[in-house]
Amino acid sequence: MVFGQRIKSLLLLFTLQYPFKSGGVLGFEATWESLDSRPLPNWYDEAKFGIFIHWGVFSVPSYKGEWFWQKWGRNGDAPSTNQATEEIKAFVNKTELPQFAYADYAHRFDATLYDPEHWAGVFAQSGAQYVVLTSKHHEGFCNWDSRQAVPTSWNWNSVEVGPKRDLVGELAHSVKKTMSNQTQKPLRFGLYHSLYEWFNPLYEHDKANKFQSQTFVKLKTMPELYDIVEKYQPEVIWSDGDWDAHSDYWDSKQFLAWYATNSTVAKTGVWNDRWGKDAMCHHGSFLTCQDRYLPDKINHHKWENALTITSQSWGYDRSLTLKSYYTAEYLIHALIQTVAYNGNMLLNVGPRADGTLDPIFEERLTEIGSWLSVNGDAIYGSRPWNHTQHEPASKVFYTVSQQNKVLYALFTEWPEDSKLQLKSPVPTESTKVHMLGLPSARKESIDLRWSHRGEASKAGMTIQLPALTPRNIPCQYAWILALTGIGNLGEEDVAEEESVVS
Ligand SMILES: *[C@@H]1O[C@H](CO)[C@@H](O)[C@H](O)[C@H]1NC(C)=O
Ligand SMILES: *[C@@H]1O[C@H](CO)[C@@H](O)[C@H](O)[C@H]1NC(C)=O
Ligand SMILES: *[C@@H]1O[C@H](CO)[C@@H](O)[C@H](O)[C@H]1NC(C)=O
Ligand SMILES: *[C@@H]1O[C@H](CO)[C@@H](O)[C@H](O)[C@H]1NC(C)=O
Repeated sequence: MVFGQRIKSLLLLFTLQYPFKSGGVLGFEATWESLDSRPLPNWYDEAKFGIFIHWGVFSVPSYKGEWFWQKWGRNGDAPSTNQATEEIKAFVNKTELPQFAYADYAHRFDATLYDPEHWAGVFAQSGAQYVVLTSKHHEGFCNWDSRQAVPTSWNWNSVEVGPKRDLVGELAHSVKKTMSNQTQKPLRFGLYHSLYEWFNPLYEHDKANKFQSQTFVKLKTMPELYDIVEKYQPEVIWSDGDWDAHSDYWDSKQFLAWYATNSTVAKTGVWNDRWGKDAMCHHGSFLTCQDRYLPDKINHHKWENALTITSQSWGYDRSLTLKSYYTAEYLIHALIQTVAYNGNMLLNVGPRADGTLDPIFEERLTEIGSWLSVNGDAIYGSRPWNHTQHEPASKVFYTVSQQNKVLYALFTEWPEDSKLQLKSPVPTESTKVHMLGLPSARKESIDLRWSHRGEASKAGMTIQLPALTPRNIPCQYAWILALTGIGNLGEEDVAEEESVVS
């Protein structure tokens, strides 16, 4: 009896979470309403940090970024209306023979030193939990063996031209068997895919028809998407290049319904929001809105901050100097704000055409990794705290531990008097405070002294930070206090509070 009842309530729970199709088949329909009703798989929210990789034929010139071809023009014929076009034309004039075509670069995309095991090791050390590679960027070049499933990718894929290797498959294999240093969970694998292509004649045909025909979608884009899911089981589909047309033209909703219902990664797969001009910033397991999206308050719809280690380019760019590379401090601060406001950070590196990673990328990732190895408890699996917004902008942020027991205060500037002021937590008799990373550095008591900032029983604390030297400071750039016994930790209803505190 009891058993039967349990099954019934389990079934009820299941129906509430997952809409059944009329035929009784568990699944999603090709509507935003149905797709948006799917709960976000936990792993993605818990992961917080992933690595993005932009690699393709554009990595050969490695000059002025991955939009090189578009700025140069199909045959170097882009109108010279901007500086980038001028510079790229001059660059091609200087480095190539007169009959040069962009497709010639593909032969020099050699990937000779491509070692996906090494990449996966670097990503694991960074503390990232997932890795997203460009399977195909806007230039249309497929980084996998697309020959069978997508005949229209003939002579424009990495198995027929250039590397003569399945770049996607090799990385998928290495990434999935690599454990994260911080969480001891295997890394997850995802794929970026561009819906549109700058110079594909099939796409131009549809565009000329005002997207009333779908020749390109049926012969190129959709066969590609189904192929990469079937071959590599990506648990993130990071779509892009959608903006010219509506999701109805792209058949995006049909694909996503299949991905979430019938693919081998139906349970764990997630997708972004770039599936048509109606979708961006509205529909998706997570929102990306625009590149480097970093709101200044909590967005309760899970989102992702996709940014690149350089301020200029996603693909490798030899023309950049040190000042274009963000510092580890900048990147760690971005990670903190991202996580505190309910986002994940997807940090991009651009490998060279020969498959090597510039050591500056490795260095930045390793620095983030060592910071996370001290502070990971406040990041992985954490949740945002609704009071976060009451603190002075970009100085103090909060996260809450998974079991709702610990409040973490993340601060990005060490106060000159070593007294940290917190406006939002309500301390109680049993409040205890310590700094992450200190227990292993020092043997004595690790509890920090604190006092009420104003009236007892109201929000606000002053915390005396420990006297640390460069030898025993647990990390650089940002520090984290773990607070237990906080009075207003588990509050669901903060609307009232909000008007009082601010
Ligand atoms: C490229 O070279 C051609 C021929 O040498 C010349 O006509 C053209 O002006 C050059 N273009 C640029 C942008 O330097
Ligand atoms: C990460 O794990 C690898 C293999 O276990 C180890 O060699 C390396 O030192 C670790 N790195 C960090 C930063 O913990
Ligand atoms: C999933 O597969 C079932 C059985 O083959 C089919 O009836 C259904 O239409 C498929 N659903 C989607 C969304 O592809
Ligand atoms: C924060 O606020 C949101 C929206 O008002 C609410 O759904 C959520 O439960 C709150 N979270 C906590 C921990 O109070």
